[in-house]
Amino acid sequence: MARPITTFSCSECGASFPKWSGRCEACGAWNSITEDVPLSTGPKGKGLGSMRGQKVALTDLSARETPPPRTSSGLDELDRVLGGGLVPASAVLVGGDPGIGKSTLLLQAASAFANKGLKTFYISGEEASAQVRMRAARLGLENAPVKLGADTALRDILTTLDDERPDLVIIDSIQTMWSDTVDSAPGSVSQVRAAAHELTTFAKRRGAAVILVGHVTKEGQIAGPRVVEHMVDTVLYFEGERGHQFRILRAVKNRFGPADEIGVFEMTGGGLSEVSNPSALFMGERGQPSPGSVVFAGIEGTRPVLVEIQALVAPSPHSQARRSTVGWDGGRLATILAVLEARCGIPFAGLDVYLNVAGGMKVSEPAADLAVAAALLSAREDSALPADCVVFGEISLSGALRPVGQTENRLKEAAKLGFSSAIAPAGGKPGGDQGLRLMQMSDLTSFVGEVFGAG
Ligand code: TYD
Ligand code: MG
Repeated sequence: MARPITTFSCSECGASFPKWSGRCEACGAWNSITEDVPLSTGPKGKGLGSMRGQKVALTDLSARETPPPRTSSGLDELDRVLGGGLVPASAVLVGGDPGIGKSTLLLQAASAFANKGLKTFYISGEEASAQVRMRAARLGLENAPVKLGADTALRDILTTLDDERPDLVIIDSIQTMWSDTVDSAPGSVSQVRAAAHELTTFAKRRGAAVILVGHVTKEGQIAGPRVVEHMVDTVLYFEGERGHQFRILRAVKNRFGPADEIGVFEMTGGGLSEVSNPSALFMGERGQPSPGSVVFAGIEGTRPVLVEIQALVAPSPHSQARRSTVGWDGGRLATILAVLEARCGIPFAGLDVYLNVAGGMKVSEPAADLAVAAALLSAREDSALPADCVVFGEISLSGALRPVGQTENRLKEAAKLGFSSAIAPAGGKPGGDQGLRLMQMSDLTSFVGEVFGAG
């Protein structure tokens, strides 16, 4: 029988190699390559033999189990993103850029949950207790019954938590945690993975909710392996543009509620305050209609949100025209420009194009296509759309407009905020009369003709 071939793999990135070397060729990490333990060949005969373990308890799909009792924090924006409150025995990862306000948010959440009767622990690996206390004093939360710890040694933290039996533990941040079972520096992929694993198992074992704070890399991913995202039940991103005071907490994964839900906060001198009517905020100051500005009726999670899309089109002084976007995908902008050129004969060559979503909001819905195209055309033609008009619809490569979901909710929100007309693709389900003048169009060419008076 042939001897099993020995293979080696990198503990940082998972690449495998036939030979050991000091540096991983795939990710460049030093001293991360280890020999793989060969897989066992399994039992020889039909039965499991010595490989026999315990039987797993099986139930039917119809088996009744009471839904997990959730605790609401009283902060509606946070509860909504969590799917209606915090679930016991669950693990939540909160990711975000450094300085965006994660520690502030979680300190506020800790005190809110503690005031609701949860036994809450806040473990800071980044700041000393005095610093956290200072922040708490600044936020007016110093009397909340939160237990504070400042440590990074995971074994000591877990020993403490095991004795204390908490309902909620906040770990700020997972990158500072250090497990002595893994032989690499804190913040490295294997440490982050090990620490996240130990903390999520603690959550399941003890029935506590664990919230992990994770830093985001320049590429916008939570530093450490994606595997941390798979280990936890809920992944939330805390986003916002620097220079804007608005912050958005977005659920990208939630085993206990809808994903794509957002909570909107405003960073003030006294911490984060909730914004319960985000539409008003993302529309900028609307007065006179201005060229290049279009209001998009979007949906974030279960909530309709109106957002202002702004475009600027100017002759380019360079041979290579600039395309710049904030809050919207650059590739998608290129696609829409190409469709406008190929299907409607409106060229943007030689023109610099800048596209912004107002208020630091990020929009990823395809339904924003038509609003983006409208903003681009309006900027290019220097002709404003009526100020009381909202736009939405997806553009296909053929130039056809595709209906989008939740047309009725979009129209309702627009009517509620005082808009009196809407441009939408033909075929959506507008529902009853919303009191809006609805213009439905089936392709981009008729939209251009109708709105800008050219074919
Ligand atoms: P922080 O929560 O420390 O961010 P993170 O944990 O994500 O790194 O927040 C840091 C920023 O928040 C800092 O630039 C100051 C600002 N801030 C306020 O504007 N108001 C406040 O009340 C607090 C506590 C912080
Ligand atoms: Mg912090």
